[in-house]
Amino acid sequence: MSTPLPDDSPLLAPLRVGRLELPHRALMAPLTRNRADGDVPNEMQAEYYAQRASAGLIFSEGSQPQRMGQAYPNVPGVHSVEQKAGWARIARRVHDGQGHLFVQLMHSGRISHPHTLDGATPVASSAVRPEGSIVTWSSPDPDTERELTTLDYVTPRALELAEIPDVVAGYAHAARLAVDAGADGVELHGANGYLIHQFLADGINRRTDRYGGTAANRARFAVEVARACAEEIGADRLGIRVSPLNPFNGIVENDDEVYDVLVDALAPMGLAYLHVVGTRNQDFVLRLRKAWPGIYVLNTNFEEYSTREDMAGLIADGVADAVTVGRPWIANPDLVRRWREGAAENEPDQGSLYGGDHRGYTDYAFLHDAA
Ligand SMILES: Cc1cc2nc3c(=O)[nH]c(=O)nc-3n(C[C@H](O)[C@H](O)[C@H](O)COP(=O)(O)O)c2cc1C
Repeated sequence: MSTPLPDDSPLLAPLRVGRLELPHRALMAPLTRNRADGDVPNEMQAEYYAQRASAGLIFSEGSQPQRMGQAYPNVPGVHSVEQKAGWARIARRVHDGQGHLFVQLMHSGRISHPHTLDGATPVASSAVRPEGSIVTWSSPDPDTERELTTLDYVTPRALELAEIPDVVAGYAHAARLAVDAGADGVELHGANGYLIHQFLADGINRRTDRYGGTAANRARFAVEVARACAEEIGADRLGIRVSPLNPFNGIVENDDEVYDVLVDALAPMGLAYLHVVGTRNQDFVLRLRKAWPGIYVLNTNFEEYSTREDMAGLIADGVADAVTVGRPWIANPDLVRRWREGAAENEPDQGSLYGGDHRGYTDYAFLHDAA
């Protein structure tokens, strides 16, 4: 047991986000779990999300808006009729539990492999190869027997100027599909080294056209994607996640000025929220908070495991309006009840985070099971 959160804890205060009235401020972070066989959201995923409906607002696992945006095997897409039906089932189950769902659109760019993309070379802002390796299939041919393996990254292909409008349109199409499937909105994954971040980051983006060079140019892709999605589904059903200076997935960022430019460009659009990955001692966290006129959501990244005390402190101190919590929501489908009551938490099992079956996915105990 730890101390229960007092009923008047600001973490437990309701919050309006876009069109939604949320019952509290400890939302569920986007979490890739690699359990969508055939890249289609399935019944087991619907059960997993339904179990966590008391998060109030769930940000789905990063999901590719287009086939070329797929990072890893068994990640759900948001582009086909079948995938739409899968998302519809998830949205329905989350709504049945009085929760809400934003689908996170993650175009992975260079964080992929030809074997994940039926042989195609991953695209990126520039042809800069990430160091290291990535989980993929043993063969690029989906019609052969293949298994999961780990292979070195390849050098991606820089998107041609003429291709960029199609990629932007792909996000808008996916946003429309998600909302038509019943999702309450869409989050653009601009964090953690995926495609949008590959444009933002000065050390990765080597372009000499209007998408590279100055901060305004590097922010242009993100702004165009946000504008296209906002026009498609309404700005109040759209948010964006960014992780300034986060070196994850081989990102090299020498300055975070691009985020000031980005936030200035996004602010007039009236998005539902800005979602920032960072800690309270990082400069940009307070700077972007100040510059952003709307709801500000914070995630403290992997640095420390998110605890109720720390999360409550962030809200009480006004560092953010809401927080997203990742690993604790994986292991505790009734996390906020546990926080309210001061109950002990289940620990997440590391071995089943990425891929596998229901174990370490839908079988974490609820408090009433433990009792
Ligand atoms: C298994 C796992 C999968 C993740 N997948 C995503 C993802 O798809 N999109 C994303 O923006 N962040 C992803 N993250 C990062 C989390 O959203 C979050 O930032 C991180 O877990 C730190 O928060 P925590 O300490 O509360 O877990 C993932 C993290 C984990 C542990």
